[in-house]
Formats: sequence, C-alpha cells, structure tokens
Amino acid sequence: MATAKLLVVLVALMAAASSSCGPWELNIRMPTARAVEDAAAGVAAPLIHALRPLVGSAGDLGRRGGVPCDSWRLAVEAYNKRDWKTVPADCEGYVGHYMLGGHYRRDSRVVVDEAIAYAEGLKLAGNGREVWVFDIDETSLSNLPYYAKHGFGTEPFNATSFNAYVLEGSALALPETQRLFDKLISLGIKPVFLTGRTENQRAITVVNLRRQGYYGWMKLLLKPVGFKGTAIGFKSGERRKLQDAGYVIVGNIGDQWSDILGAPEGARTFKLPDPMYYIG
Ligand SMILES: *[C@@H]1O[C@H](CO)[C@@H](O)[C@H](O)[C@H]1NC(C)=O
Ligand SMILES: [Mg+2]
Repeated sequence: MATAKLLVVLVALMAAASSSCGPWELNIRMPTARAVEDAAAGVAAPLIHALRPLVGSAGDLGRRGGVPCDSWRLAVEAYNKRDWKTVPADCEGYVGHYMLGGHYRRDSRVVVDEAIAYAEGLKLAGNGREVWVFDIDETSLSNLPYYAKHGFGTEPFNATSFNAYVLEGSALALPETQRLFDKLISLGIKPVFLTGRTENQRAITVVNLRRQGYYGWMKLLLKPVGFKGTAIGFKSGERRKLQDAGYVIVGNIGDQWSDILGAPEGARTFKLPDPMYYIG
C-alpha cells in the first residue's frame, strides 16, 4: 500500500520531468542501450534508474538482505524499532551523510519551527511558573565530533572514551535548539535542562553549555551517580517534582523517546532526530 503510494508519487514526478513516454512504461523499463551510452558519455541518467532499487524487491537492497537504511531510520524515529544497540554496519555511510550532509539540520529545523510556533501561540499566565524541559546530548549539545570518529553509532557504545570526550567540554551547540532556547527566554518561558549525564559531570556540563552560548536556564537536573532505573523513570520522576513544586511544563524536547515518554510528559513534546544511538 505504502509502496503503491510511493510509486504514484514517483510516477507523478517522472511525468512532470518527461513527456516523451508513459509514466508506467518509464517505471518498468530497463535502461536502454541509449541510456547506457548516455551514462558513459556523462549525460545524467533518468532519475527513475537511480530510484529503482529503492522500490523494487531485488537489486542492491535485496542482495544486502537487511532493512534499507532509510526505512531503518524511519522505524527508529517512529519508535517502531526499540532497544537497538548499534546502527547496522551497512548504514554507517548513510547515517554519516544524513548527519553531516544537511538532512539532519533540515529535519531539526522543522521540529524547532513547530516548537516555536507552538510556544508563540501559548497564552502564558506570566507568573514565572512556565518551564520548558530540554534534554542535553543530541538536543542542546551535539556530540557529532565524537560519533563521526566512532562510526556514527555502528560501534558499540564505549563509556570510557565517550566520558573522556564529555570531560573535554567541547560538544557543539545544536543551532536549531539554541534558537528555541533563546526564543523561549524572550517569551518568558524558563528552560530547564534534564539530562542523563550524571551529577559528577555538572561542572564540565555547565562550562560546555556556557562556552556554546547557552545562558539563562532555570535549573540543570542531572542523574545521581549510581542511579538504578530507566531513563524514562528518572526523567519522568524529575518532571513530576517540577510539577509538584508548582511549575507548569509547557514543552519538552529531546532526541530520545525516553526523553518524552512517562507522565508528566509536558503539555507538548518534540522529538528531534537521532539515528546514532538508542537510550531506553
Ligand atoms: C574504549 O575506549 C578506551 C579509551 O579510548 C579504549 O582503551 C578501549 O580499548 C575501548 N574499548 C573497546 C571495547 O573498544
Ligand atoms: Mg539526548
């Protein structure tokens, strides 16, 4: 059904791009001798040839035997795939291109545009009790410099080398999230950082956030060292404490589903993309 819809879209695109033959014919036709010659001569091949393996049952993806990387990423983002340990080895190049090639930033921008539109539409009480919860890693700060050196999530997580990286305090701000952060402050909504980083990383986390231009958060909530429990348990528990203290969580943004699941979630949640790792 979904494949049929995709085909209809492709067909419409091809019909717009070419009027020399019928769309279905284009879709099922093998490359002609002329097309092969054109390709050899450097003339761009018709788009459909490049797309054929993505919609067919054979071809490159069939030979690989796994799930195509774009479908894998969608399943991850939609929370259909859970408890995964590493990015499929075949998908290192795909995830690398996604993260560095502009797609990740573009997807993040859409999320933040929605979050800002939502925040701007809120009727605020103006009593200083409205807060917005921000995750840190892959939400406020990006660890891409680390992951780019470690296979974009294809390597098993190494706590030793990752913690050493965190202690450098060199993670980069995600510009989209920073735009939301600054907008919320201008609207009078107070940012609260809520992170799975542990209390013993507080000092370097503050340094890193300030170095990257984050100012004016209300609280920085870190996980106690030795905390036993799930990420959902820790984060929802901290949000409950905020609520019990009289704060109203108008929004909550993170890159993991465990950032945004578990009551009280916040009046509205926003999920940033993250195809590199899973935290349950
Ligand atoms: C994890 O990283 C440390 C520090 O770079 C390294 O010494 C160790 O061999 C790594 N462990 C694995 C299993 O790769
Ligand atoms: Mg995160």
